[in-house]
Amino acid sequence: MTIKKRTHTCGQLRETDIGSTVTLTGWVDVRRDLGGVIFINLRDRYGKTQVVFSPQNSREAFDRAQALRSEFVILVTGRVQRRPQGTENPEMPTGSIDVAAVELTIMNKAETPPFPIEDSLDAGEDLRLKYRYLDLRRPVMQRNLVMRHRASQAVRKFFDREGFVEVETPVLMKSTPEGARDFLVPSRLHHGKFYALPQSPQTYKQILMVAGMDRYFQIVKCFRDEDFRADRQPEFTQIDVEMSFVEEADVMDMTERLMADLYEELLSVTLQRPFPRLTYREAMERYGSDKPDTRFGLELHDCSDLLDASEFRVFRSTIKDGGVVAGFTVPGQSGLTRNQIDGLTESAKRAGAGGLIWMKVMPDRIESSVDKFMNDSEKKAVAERLNAVSGDLCLLVSGSWTKAYTVLGALRLEMGNRLNLIRQSDWNFLWVVDFPLLEYSEEEKRFVAVHHPFTSPRPEDIPLLEGSPEKARARAYDLVLNGREIAGGSIRIHDASLQSKVFQLLGIGPGEAKEKFGFMLEAFRYGAPPHGGIAFGFDRILMLMAGQRSIRDVIAFPKTASAVSLMDEAPSPVDERQLRELHLRIVQP
Ligand code: AMO
Repeated sequence: MTIKKRTHTCGQLRETDIGSTVTLTGWVDVRRDLGGVIFINLRDRYGKTQVVFSPQNSREAFDRAQALRSEFVILVTGRVQRRPQGTENPEMPTGSIDVAAVELTIMNKAETPPFPIEDSLDAGEDLRLKYRYLDLRRPVMQRNLVMRHRASQAVRKFFDREGFVEVETPVLMKSTPEGARDFLVPSRLHHGKFYALPQSPQTYKQILMVAGMDRYFQIVKCFRDEDFRADRQPEFTQIDVEMSFVEEADVMDMTERLMADLYEELLSVTLQRPFPRLTYREAMERYGSDKPDTRFGLELHDCSDLLDASEFRVFRSTIKDGGVVAGFTVPGQSGLTRNQIDGLTESAKRAGAGGLIWMKVMPDRIESSVDKFMNDSEKKAVAERLNAVSGDLCLLVSGSWTKAYTVLGALRLEMGNRLNLIRQSDWNFLWVVDFPLLEYSEEEKRFVAVHHPFTSPRPEDIPLLEGSPEKARARAYDLVLNGREIAGGSIRIHDASLQSKVFQLLGIGPGEAKEKFGFMLEAFRYGAPPHGGIAFGFDRILMLMAGQRSIRDVIAFPKTASAVSLMDEAPSPVDERQLRELHLRIVQP
């Protein structure tokens, strides 16, 4: 079939086109048969245009249009005409015209789709993912993909202008630790050996600094086999950046300018710079999170000093053991029922607390869940610390510093959501800095890196590595937007002996270090410049910019929460011959 050229897209025609003859191509969106005349909306990526078939315009086209159904692929030629008064559709950019068809070619038929192709869709996500090509026909999904394209163009333009070079790094590589499990690829040629897919290009980008590339960036796929949620995918995209001869401020300034550029270009929003900064400690103690959502209040306060002599043994012993009693006020919620409070206690327990203590501030007294153990002056002092007034509810948690604040952070978010306190139109960027370098993992019974093992400690904290490594702070920074971590990075260790020392603290002995990162330690012996960088979660940024709830909505072909692609059914079994070639045998569980 020779295909007649389309003259316009379905989003293009306006009143100024009235009178001209046009040819459109696309999919039949909706069809209305009024007996003597048939209306359809013709849809393509650019929009929708109404097309009218009537015997007066063309008997042949009208007859053929009887067969049209949703999602048929057609080509229509006709005359652009003004819609009769009162039938215009101000919601559609093409809504003041329609096309009176004189020719119709049905290029392909379509089965009835399993869900309607429209923005307000209530089909389950699994169905959408199985028929992703239909889901992607929906205007909202097309807008998301176009936005993604525009964002990557803007990112490339920004870095090019700033003198950065995009370098592609290998996908088949040696494992880089970023705290998740690796996806492994068996080697056919090297019996018993595996490549790992990059959790990030961290080692390569540092080596590129040793190679003198000075300013590197890459829009790059990363792979992590971890637990998946709405903002995590097994394969996702980073904007990965590394710079030589820089300090924290240089990387942070570059980051803020990149974000400002993106927001200006894509959303015409001017961001306030510099972004606020919180230390890790402040973030935890005020918001109970290392990625605080500051679009609402409900800030936390430490009450330990008011309760260290309390009759309540739980308070006293927690505080004596170095823990805290802290809490926050939920304004106007003293009327919560027993059941509602039980629900909150459940949430606190799910987040790891032993329990939840509440106080209701009444005009004449304060009632609490531990009235037996808390005297009036303690209750008053706590209410005052939490800025509570009559009618307010106070929630308190006691426990280790990390646990108490983490639980309160989860409760704060829950209350913020429930009471609709979150200002949805805000763009609250902030930096979290001064993370600890290491944290002790109870599970692994050793220190693990809070960021990754290549992150430099603060120079003044290097002596701490000997006696109290848990106190050393990292030269790391996380960028947070509306309560989500959208980027993280650090100034790196560029000294082979300090790097060995950190490996040692992480329980990576000289043998293992040499085996895993020998190439890097060796490279560092040949003139490694001081360097640092950052990586952005591109999908997360897009999800937020596009106002979506899940990163799956800004990824063309995402995986489900159990890491499956429902459309093509990956992962799938392979045949015995392939396994033999790879020297693999499947062990039945
Ligand atoms: P990090 O591990 O913090 O740092 O990753 C950087 C950013 O990538 C995003 N991200 C994810 N997005 C979707 N799905 C996932 N599974 C996922 N995991 C991470 C987050 C995160 O902030 N090499 C370092 C960066 C550096 O030090 O320069 C790194 O990968 O938004």
